[in-house]
Amino acid sequence: MNSFSFTLFIFSITIFLQCLSSTGAATCHPDDEAGLLAFKSGITQDPSGMLSSWKKGTSCCSWKGVICLNSDRVTILELVGFLKKPERSLSGTLSPSLAKLKHLNVISLGDHGNITGSFPKFLLQLTKLRYVDIQNNRLSGPLPANIGVINTLEEIFLNGNKFTGSIPNSISNLTRLSYLFLGGNLLTGTIPYEISNLKLLQNLNLGGNRLSGTIPDIFESMTLLKFLDLSRNGFSGELPPSIVSVAPTLLALELSQNNLSGTIPGYISRFNRLEKLNLSKNRFSGVVPEGFVNLTNLNNLDLSHNLLTDQFPDLIINTIEYLDLSYNQFQLETIPKWVTSLPSIFLLKLAKCGIKMSLDDWKPAEPLYFHYIDLSKNEISGSLERFLNQTEYLLELRVAGNKLRFDMGNLTFPRTLKTLDLSRNLVFGKVPATVAGLERLNVSQNHLCGELPATLFPASAFACNDCLCGSPFSPCKV
Ligand SMILES: *[C@@H]1O[C@H](CO)[C@@H](O)[C@H](O)[C@H]1NC(C)=O
Ligand SMILES: *[C@@H]1O[C@H](CO)[C@@H](O)[C@H](O)[C@H]1NC(C)=O
Ligand SMILES: *[C@@H]1O[C@H](CO)[C@@H](O)[C@H](O)[C@H]1NC(C)=O
Ligand SMILES: *[C@@H]1O[C@H](CO)[C@@H](O)[C@H](O)[C@H]1NC(C)=O
Ligand SMILES: *[C@@H]1O[C@H](CO)[C@@H](O)[C@H](O)[C@H]1NC(C)=O
Ligand SMILES: *[C@@H]1O[C@H](CO)[C@@H](O)[C@H](O)[C@H]1NC(C)=O
Ligand SMILES: *[C@@H]1O[C@H](CO)[C@@H](O)[C@H](O)[C@H]1NC(C)=O
Ligand SMILES: *[C@@H]1O[C@H](CO)[C@@H](O)[C@H](O)[C@H]1NC(C)=O
Repeated sequence: MNSFSFTLFIFSITIFLQCLSSTGAATCHPDDEAGLLAFKSGITQDPSGMLSSWKKGTSCCSWKGVICLNSDRVTILELVGFLKKPERSLSGTLSPSLAKLKHLNVISLGDHGNITGSFPKFLLQLTKLRYVDIQNNRLSGPLPANIGVINTLEEIFLNGNKFTGSIPNSISNLTRLSYLFLGGNLLTGTIPYEISNLKLLQNLNLGGNRLSGTIPDIFESMTLLKFLDLSRNGFSGELPPSIVSVAPTLLALELSQNNLSGTIPGYISRFNRLEKLNLSKNRFSGVVPEGFVNLTNLNNLDLSHNLLTDQFPDLIINTIEYLDLSYNQFQLETIPKWVTSLPSIFLLKLAKCGIKMSLDDWKPAEPLYFHYIDLSKNEISGSLERFLNQTEYLLELRVAGNKLRFDMGNLTFPRTLKTLDLSRNLVFGKVPATVAGLERLNVSQNHLCGELPATLFPASAFACNDCLCGSPFSPCKV
């Protein structure tokens, strides 16, 4: 999702410069040296010594993370942290003295996790900025109302902080933007209509905020948009008509966890480059349009937790790897043939889809690659044995609340399996010792009997069976 093209570009420049460095590192402008040393003094923790080469009196152009292209002025400052490794990240605040680096094109200080303070206002004074990455830190407070003055910006990553308040209208002046990442903050209010000015946007990420209202009709001129993420907010109402304008270019549409309603429009058939469609956890209703058959590049399709009804079109789309249709109002009766014939599916979730078949009749084309299966809350009968025997990479199997009837003692499952939920079925026999290797198990409300193998699972995992004994229940009678 995130593009690292620019970072790669910087990386190749770094190598290129190192090759040229026979002439010796350029000296460094005193303003830049002073600005960088002030930045260093705002950093309170640098456990990996990321800034150890930053010493007064040495040329700042040769300091780690600092690049001066063509002159004694710093053009790139790139010190990226490691979110999962605090020992390779910086803590502290961003010194306003960085405003002295007047020639800065690129500033990349993301993923440190512990850089705090308000929005770095010095950015507003830098007139050559093209790329700003301060994502995944702990910056807070509002975005400046005049953020639009940095109108040289092409990519900005502010995601994963704690910014509050609304998206400033002046964002409409950042007309060169192709990447706008504001996701994972605490932003409120509506999407300003002015965002429709950003005609070069390729990636708009506002997911995981507290935005609300309807999605404004902003897409008409965004003819380059590839990724749109508005998920995990409080948007309501129907999809805006202009969204069809991005049909020829869009690769991913993520609108999950909002309060969107209405039907899925028939023009969805025109989004023929779409690889990922996530509409889960909304209030979409009506039938899934036949036009889905034209989405022949679809990889991930998640329509779960809506109010959709039959008939579901036959999506003979060989690229589907991730399919979740759970918790709608479907009455599929069987696992559809087109699902069964998907050649590279690794996640299948059809919970509460009105499936009434016997699992013995299900012969998926490529069972080997399944990693996640959820068929809970259907009326599936028969045995799991044959299917499980064919899988090799299964991590999670959930079939709670069906009519499965088989001898659990005979069950063998792949060593990869971590989660098995068989609760509320008609399973009989003994619980096999192999369940001890699982991380999560639930076999409650079946007809199991006999001595339980030694495991650490709580009693509720085994509750309401016919005659189980041994820990966590009372000892078996001898
Ligand atoms: C942030 O700081 C706290 C306490 O100073 C520390 O425990 C934590 O590991 C740091 N996290 C990161 C990502 O640096
Ligand atoms: C955009 O920039 C123009 C010219 O600099 C300015 O007049 C206008 O107020 C700005 N728009 C917003 C919404 O800030
Ligand atoms: C979702 O939208 C419905 C109307 O479509 C409204 O009644 C409901 O309160 C909304 N829920 C939330 C959480 O906003
Ligand atoms: C799918 O696309 C073809 C041509 O690209 C078009 O003729 C057909 O009507 C479309 N099908 C649906 C159901 O929209
Ligand atoms: C869709 O979004 C939901 C919630 O935001 C998430 O749990 C799920 O993994 C997403 N599905 C796909 C295919 O990424
Ligand atoms: C499971 O597979 C093994 C070996 O591949 C085979 O011997 C056994 O009969 C199979 N069991 C079932 C129930 O298909
Ligand atoms: C299950 O195991 C029992 C006892 O080991 C055996 O009698 C029975 O035939 C087995 N069932 C199947 C379907 O393999
Ligand atoms: C097992 O499932 C039952 C019923 O679905 C539930 O009440 C119980 O909390 C679950 N136990 C565990 C350990 O998941």
